[in-house]
Amino acid sequence: MKQYNVAIVGATGMVGHEFIKVLEQRRFPALSVRLLASDRSAGKKMRVLNREVTVEETATASFQGVDIALFSAGADQSRLYAPKAAQAGAVVVDNSAAWRMDPTVPLVVPEVNVDDIKTHKGIIANPNCSTIQMVVALYPLHKVNPIKRIVVTTYQSVSGTGLAALDELATQSRQVLDGQTTKPAVYPHQIAFDVLPEIDVFLDNGYTKEEWKMVEETHKIMHAPQIAVSATCARVPVFIGHSESVNVEFSQPITPEEARRILSRAPGVSVIDDPATHAYPRATIAAGTDLTYVGRVRRDVSCPNGLVFWVVADNIRKGAALNAVQIAEEMINRGWLNGSK
Ligand code: A2P
Repeated sequence: MKQYNVAIVGATGMVGHEFIKVLEQRRFPALSVRLLASDRSAGKKMRVLNREVTVEETATASFQGVDIALFSAGADQSRLYAPKAAQAGAVVVDNSAAWRMDPTVPLVVPEVNVDDIKTHKGIIANPNCSTIQMVVALYPLHKVNPIKRIVVTTYQSVSGTGLAALDELATQSRQVLDGQTTKPAVYPHQIAFDVLPEIDVFLDNGYTKEEWKMVEETHKIMHAPQIAVSATCARVPVFIGHSESVNVEFSQPITPEEARRILSRAPGVSVIDDPATHAYPRATIAAGTDLTYVGRVRRDVSCPNGLVFWVVADNIRKGAALNAVQIAEEMINRGWLNGSK
């Protein structure tokens, strides 16, 4: 079996750690792994695939000899270094928003549009976490009964904001319970014991950028710009796992039973839907796992061909690191990635 030289940009961050875990768990055929971060982390030692690796500061020269580069160090770093990595011969899978809507860059969820990978010119974009889990659940239904409209509301965990946000939620929770005052730093308001309907910046149209990503990215991944999409994204005091309430209008009538049948056979999906036993997807079920969970499937009584359901996934795994590694694996399995050995 061929082996590949891997680089992880943002290796010390939340998604960076998950990249390492996922590569190990899936026994990724790595010949070497280069760990890259900011100058603050240079010299730090981390364990990856049973080797001790020294973290290096990211630089233009970091990508010599790299076959696949997994990026999650923010959009600025991706804008700066992804083209340099591609120029050095690496294929970049970028988890930031920097390249997602670039028409020359494929935006890929393997369960939906794996063939788009072939069009890459050195950079492949990993979609936004909330979009990934939604399209994994929607695409199998869309294939048999085209979707006309989606209204989604998200309940997003703080891990999507990075390690500092996990810390902030834990610290604030303790402070509130101890009767102390909190001092928000990562978010504009206290996140402990509250819900913030603001993720990313506000746009002129009243939506947030996170909400707009769900509109544009859904169109691009599903090759379906005609679908009307409206999203409301909220940050909730949950550590890991995003939950979504999704109302969908289809072209033709569809029953909840039919939807459950289709979804129970869909790749990457697990249906948990037994109200009688209080069984439905929850963030604590999804955390640390690879699947997208769907439940509470029912008719949307407000619309003739409508269904409404609840979708949950681990935003750091399927919403970020796992999806990126799956893209790399698909390239390997299909012979689309040159290896070093
Ligand atoms: P560092 O730990 O050295 O700051 P998170 O999203 O969890 O906050 O992680 C962000 C990741 O992006 C970290 O690995 C962080 O490295 C990395 N990063 C931040 N700024 C830079 C930069 N200027 N160059 C390279 N990596 C960066």
